[in-house]
Amino acid sequence: MEETKELLRVEHLKKYFPTSRGLLYAVDDINFSINEGETLGVVGESGCGKSTLGRAILRLHEPTDGKVMYEGENILEYDSQKMKAMRSNMQIIFQDPYSSLNPRMTVSQAIAAPLLIQGIFKKNQKDEIQKKVNEMMDLVGLARRFANSYPHELDGGRRQRIGIARALSLNPKFIVCDEPVSALDVSIQAQVLNLMQDLQEQLGLTYLFITHNLSVVKHLSNKIMVMYLGQMVELADPKTLFKNPLHPYTKALLSAIPTPDPEYKMERVILKGELSSPINVPEGCRFAKRCVYAKPECANIKVRLCEPEPGHFVACHLISGDLGIDS
Ligand SMILES: Nc1ncnc2c1ncn2[C@@H]1O[C@H](COP(=O)(O)OP(=O)(O)OP(=O)(O)O)[C@@H](O)[C@H]1O
Ligand code: SF4
Ligand SMILES: [Mg+2]
Repeated sequence: MEETKELLRVEHLKKYFPTSRGLLYAVDDINFSINEGETLGVVGESGCGKSTLGRAILRLHEPTDGKVMYEGENILEYDSQKMKAMRSNMQIIFQDPYSSLNPRMTVSQAIAAPLLIQGIFKKNQKDEIQKKVNEMMDLVGLARRFANSYPHELDGGRRQRIGIARALSLNPKFIVCDEPVSALDVSIQAQVLNLMQDLQEQLGLTYLFITHNLSVVKHLSNKIMVMYLGQMVELADPKTLFKNPLHPYTKALLSAIPTPDPEYKMERVILKGELSSPINVPEGCRFAKRCVYAKPECANIKVRLCEPEPGHFVACHLISGDLGIDS
């Protein structure tokens, strides 16, 4: 088997937002790496920090601390000029293509915009621009008859194809996919996911694929990271995670997915309450208030990330044994 090379490594990444009530710990000490051509799925409830993580990696939100190593270089140290050049390599596909597209731009203009902004073409190179736009429309399966249509004239699936074409027009290697199918009708979701997988294979793309739905990333991820209140609570390959989830939060997320596969049948774990505030978070486990296995010490003692089996990481006192609790 061919060896894959690491493309991105995120080390101790933090993004805190100052608020009137104190610091909001949106992303708090996240670590992972992604190999070239592979996908890391990022899963968690609304407000757990998924989008902030994606944006902090791309410096659309300037990180508070940590490193984003891209091909061995920390891009957080890049000046604005170097970062502008780097933007061609690192792109984003948004959840809602409607709000991320300018309603006054045609499909052609929307796809051409990043090329003009990055200085790949000058405005007067009309023929070259049109050729590139046609090429991108063909690539994402958008019929050329829509070239002069406006976003509101298209359905959600076609609008998302524009978003994908825009992201791909600069030949990036790495793409943050921020819930790219969540706003689409179920019937269209599979088409767009298939397209994204085909494009990944064809172009060797590397994805950070954000979703609140574990079943969406199960088939397209090489690794899945589960996030809770700004932190990583579990990381494993999909097979391991679905077969042997170790963190109580992952167990609860998985038990909520209906499955016809008896191999994965598990008892339903009901999650108590809602995600608590990311402001004034406890020193210890942030999941303690909702965890059915919680001990009083869980919220007070810092949780250590441990690796109970190779490549499977979990942040829970039950697994680390730090409190003398057995799973
Ligand atoms: N610009 C900002 N200023 C202050 N707080 C913010 C900002 N952006 C996000 N937050 C807060 O950071 C936390 C994480 O938000 P984020 O949007 O990253 O979550 P998410 O997991 O992407 O949620 P969703 O699934 O709803 O998209 C939330 O508490 C949110 O309110
Ligand atoms: S550390 Fe304690 S509260 Fe947190 S998930 Fe593990 S058992 Fe539950
Ligand atoms: Mg989000």
